Amino acid sequence: MLLERRLDELAQATMRTALGLTETAPAILRPTQDPRFGDYQLNGVLPLAKKLGKNPKELAEIVAKALVGNEAFESAEVAGPGFVNLKIRDAWIANELTAALRDRERDGIPVVERPESIIVDYSGPNVAKQMHVGHLRSTIIGAAIVSMLRFVGHRVIGDNHLGDWGTQFGLLLVGMRAWGDAAALEATPIVELERVYKLASNRAKEDEAFADSARLELAKLQGGDADNLALWKRFVDVTRTALDVVYDELGVTFDEWLGESAYHDMLPATVQKLRDAGLVREDQGALCIFFNELEGVSPKLKKQKEPFIVQKRDGAYLYATTDIATLFYRRDRFAADRALYVVDARQALHFEQLFAVAKLLGIDARLEHIGFGTVLGTDGKPLKTRDGVAVTLQSLLDEAKARAETRIREGMAEGRLHLDEAEVTKVARAVGIGAVKYADLSQNRMTDYQFDWDKMIAFQGNSGPYLQYAFARCSAIFRKGNVDSAAVDASATLVIGDESEAALVRKLARFGDVVHKAAETSQPNYVCEHLYELSGAFNTFYQRCKVLDAPDEATRASRLALVSLTQRQLGRGLALLGIETVERM
Ligand code: ARG
Repeated sequence: MLLERRLDELAQATMRTALGLTETAPAILRPTQDPRFGDYQLNGVLPLAKKLGKNPKELAEIVAKALVGNEAFESAEVAGPGFVNLKIRDAWIANELTAALRDRERDGIPVVERPESIIVDYSGPNVAKQMHVGHLRSTIIGAAIVSMLRFVGHRVIGDNHLGDWGTQFGLLLVGMRAWGDAAALEATPIVELERVYKLASNRAKEDEAFADSARLELAKLQGGDADNLALWKRFVDVTRTALDVVYDELGVTFDEWLGESAYHDMLPATVQKLRDAGLVREDQGALCIFFNELEGVSPKLKKQKEPFIVQKRDGAYLYATTDIATLFYRRDRFAADRALYVVDARQALHFEQLFAVAKLLGIDARLEHIGFGTVLGTDGKPLKTRDGVAVTLQSLLDEAKARAETRIREGMAEGRLHLDEAEVTKVARAVGIGAVKYADLSQNRMTDYQFDWDKMIAFQGNSGPYLQYAFARCSAIFRKGNVDSAAVDASATLVIGDESEAALVRKLARFGDVVHKAAETSQPNYVCEHLYELSGAFNTFYQRCKVLDAPDEATRASRLALVSLTQRQLGRGLALLGIETVERM
């Protein structure tokens, strides 16, 4: 049930027949700002009239007349210089929604016509470093994109491109041998790795010989030296254990963990391919791609003096080299039609360069950088703890759960919520983590966003808990009435009486379109926006309409169906966003 898409097609076909067009002209259907003017506004007549050199108002009259002849439209009225305001017939929406009600599997939402193989490259934290809030965004946004794309029918491979093979390992190897504390590495691995890394990188800055030995150890590692590999593997393993705790907390999984090291064996051949294609040349001993010297690149890259370094003088390969190898690997192993890189917007240039190289190498997959902005504190500066270190993800999630728990205990103390201790922990987790995820996902991902605990955990306003609360409210209705929602879904018929019901069904009917649009554009915020509006429409309905004590059986069944549909949509929408729901909160 892609209702808006269907309406659009319908309007388009009607325009074509009514005006006797030989070509299809877009209908450009948009929801109206003010429901008093109808549900949708058709904007396509104006540009068409201009093209045909005809009077837009006259054309609009013809189109409007033809549109009311259709069962979907209650009325069609010409407005302004040539818009058509459309009102959808209640019975038509009710009929559509009944089909969705019966389909508990997919809520009546179809899959895409042409499924694709899509790689989603997300999270990608770096070994031996604490995962920070920046990686949180990639992880949360990436996981939501994976779920949405999969739900609309694509074949999706979620890949964690772990930073496990960079220059930091030379420093870590020598540093660990000089100052490493085995017990600390066991107990608090990341803290110890970071401590040693800091020592080593400071030392390398003032001690040339030390820096040289780090480079040497890195070269030995990359050359397959057994001792170095063993130590490196230990760094990776302890980091992975720590990462798993966070992913577990977030409920995030990956299909692949193809970190940078996974491509190591392919790097010499990758460089050879670049040579064969004539894309690299030497500069001070390093192999580089100079975009300003290449044909067929964008004007912006043509002006770019900084090259892509693919191999350093000492033979070491870099971040970019691995990313180029990844292009071939993903094409050959996964037959990828698309690859989405969910990475901080500050890496935009890197991806522009990478995609240009891909094009020149004849890789024809659609590559997209799914960028996102920075997480800021309430002071508007990048989020830091009091002592100035970037906030670690773990501490942040702990705080989220603690704050949610406080809210829940308040509710219990006031006597409006009854939970046992085990449930408190479970609900606090769902609400706390859900709040953090929602705060992130509900933003347009490209804008920086302020991390505001109070707004995030609030049970009112556009927050995760507000949506979870609407879901729990639906549960409460079924609980109180001792109603089986599955039975409602299987048999109820929708009848629309009150204006709040009419408004609610119009929101419910949009869900499929919203999910498809969010998946297509990698913008989970569309789903958030929809769920927020849906919750608002539901709350108004619930204030105005008696459900369990409805005036008659048919109305009661219909209203219960509305509650069920709302709850299912909230549940599915939140699940697509990676947010859990609870029965009581
Ligand atoms: N490890 C990188 C970082 O922390 C992110 C990796 C993103 N993926 C990629 N294929 N480059 O910045």
